[in-house]
Amino acid sequence: MLFGLLSITVAAVHANVRDGTPKEIQLSSVSASPFMFSVGVEVGTPSQSFKLLFDSGSSSMWIRDSNCGSQSCSNPGFVSAKSKTFQTVNSNSHSINYMDGSFIQGPLVEDAVNVGGKSVQQEFYLAKTDGSAVGFAVDGILGLAFPNTLPTFFGNLISSNQITKQVFSVYYSKDLQSGSMLLGGIDTNRYGGELLWNLVYGDSSSGSAPFSLWKTKLDYLSMSDKNVTLSDSFDLIFDTGTALSNFPVAIADKINTALGFSFIPGQNVTYGFPCPNSTVPTALPNISFGLGSGAINFHPEEYVYFSSLVSNKTTHVYCTSAFVGRPNLTDSAIFGNILTQKLYVVHDYKNMKIGVAAANRNTTLTGAFVAADSTDAPAGSWNGSADRYTMRTNNSKPFSNSGVISAVSLNLLITMLLTLNR
Ligand SMILES: *[C@@H]1O[C@H](CO)[C@@H](O)[C@H](O)[C@H]1NC(C)=O
Ligand SMILES: *[C@@H]1O[C@H](CO)[C@@H](O)[C@H](O)[C@H]1NC(C)=O
Ligand SMILES: *[C@@H]1O[C@H](CO)[C@@H](O)[C@H](O)[C@H]1NC(C)=O
Ligand SMILES: *[C@@H]1O[C@H](CO)[C@@H](O)[C@H](O)[C@H]1NC(C)=O
Ligand SMILES: *[C@@H]1O[C@H](CO)[C@@H](O)[C@H](O)[C@H]1NC(C)=O
Ligand SMILES: *[C@@H]1O[C@H](CO)[C@@H](O)[C@H](O)[C@H]1NC(C)=O
Ligand SMILES: *[C@@H]1O[C@H](CO)[C@@H](O)[C@H](O)[C@H]1NC(C)=O
Ligand SMILES: *[C@@H]1O[C@H](CO)[C@@H](O)[C@H](O)[C@H]1NC(C)=O
Ligand SMILES: *[C@@H]1O[C@H](CO)[C@@H](O)[C@H](O)[C@H]1NC(C)=O
Repeated sequence: MLFGLLSITVAAVHANVRDGTPKEIQLSSVSASPFMFSVGVEVGTPSQSFKLLFDSGSSSMWIRDSNCGSQSCSNPGFVSAKSKTFQTVNSNSHSINYMDGSFIQGPLVEDAVNVGGKSVQQEFYLAKTDGSAVGFAVDGILGLAFPNTLPTFFGNLISSNQITKQVFSVYYSKDLQSGSMLLGGIDTNRYGGELLWNLVYGDSSSGSAPFSLWKTKLDYLSMSDKNVTLSDSFDLIFDTGTALSNFPVAIADKINTALGFSFIPGQNVTYGFPCPNSTVPTALPNISFGLGSGAINFHPEEYVYFSSLVSNKTTHVYCTSAFVGRPNLTDSAIFGNILTQKLYVVHDYKNMKIGVAAANRNTTLTGAFVAADSTDAPAGSWNGSADRYTMRTNNSKPFSNSGVISAVSLNLLITMLLTLNR
């Protein structure tokens, strides 16, 4: 019943933009949440502008309703009455529960959703209750993982022929203030060397269907020439909605203990040690993530960041570990933007592959925008030499520890349990 209406609306809204060419969409850092990014989205007719969390680790889209009752609903939110293309799909209150315990509740609705000129009729949730951890800097979430119960924004772009190649590629600037998502292509200017392609793994123990997340097999994790013991079916999840590198608690503890890190005073998630001079000890080992035919190496200054802890009225600077433990994780880890910022990551939906290369973070470059996927992009092995970078060597702007913690807890946006409240 809704479909007839839907296709009429789609045709009217998108008559001019169905050229199928790749389109680069800007990403902006989310204030007070280091390593997190938002994407600008226009919703409704006439359109209302929102900033949504850019999240490849969940599937749904939601926006706060203007009439949102909870305390956190201080942003303007979406005013559905002002949009002539708005429709309620199911007025029952639905819940989206994220793995970190946060949630939103509201009806399922649909409207025209436009991201950088690529526009579709999109179903999303209108959050009347916001128990999420996304904070006020964003108005909701744009999920880019695999379709769950509803078509995703990315899926709708494909089915409406607005991208001819079923890929999106992600890149972050060196200062982490911005980034981009290339819809429908691979940007050969944004990486060095060749892409290392990895099969997407599904949720069954053999790695087959169902598929939910952009994840692949982590073959090994080595540090100091020793491998950390992982199960044979250990997944590495690529999730732009997670800031830090999340591991099962026992493995995070093993990694951090081997590095000589312990919990920062008053914290039970974040490991580190005082480093008043903001110098990362050179004696720390490199850590390698073994993926398929290659391995991605991280140097100490790539997995240690500086955070500040105010205690006894004095600010203490800590060298802080990118690796944190999460009780919800068993045989999987989340890469986290803190590490993937070094990478150019291609998500190939048609061929079910994730491509990684060393990002070329020269911000003066402009895009090359190649319409390509894993079948026609050059494949190769990891060129680890391309971009060694320094996370932070300047302690005049360390991240505040509370900010980091909330960015972490924000984001185990893994499984969503949709429940109907009758
Ligand atoms: C994950 O763990 C958190 C904290 O322990 C808990 O609140 C949440 O309900 C768990 N989520 C799932 C899906 O198990
Ligand atoms: C890796 O990529 C960089 C940047 O494109 C290039 O300068 C370098 O020669 C490459 N190294 C190898 C071993 O291919
Ligand atoms: C770690 O495991 C990989 C894959 O099994 C293996 O190739 C490599 O030699 C191991 N490294 C060490 C230091 O044992
Ligand atoms: C960590 O601290 C939080 C808040 O103080 C608490 O709720 C949680 O249970 C603690 N977790 C562990 C594993 O001790
Ligand atoms: C920090 O730098 C000062 C002055 O350069 C030096 O005296 C001190 O030993 C350093 N402290 C640490 C912990 O490296
Ligand atoms: C880490 O890797 C770099 C090369 O990428 C190498 O120069 C350095 O010696 C390595 N560090 C350790 C502790 O092995
Ligand atoms: C703060 O002061 C107390 C009491 O003097 C001390 O035990 C504690 O270690 C201090 N905290 C830090 C982070 O220095
Ligand atoms: C960055 O790219 C521009 C444009 O290609 C080039 O002129 C410049 O030399 C590059 N800078 C570095 C540091 O590679
Ligand atoms: C550190 O950051 C501050 C504030 O952004 C800046 O003024 C200063 O020049 C930086 N110092 C170095 C050594 O880069």
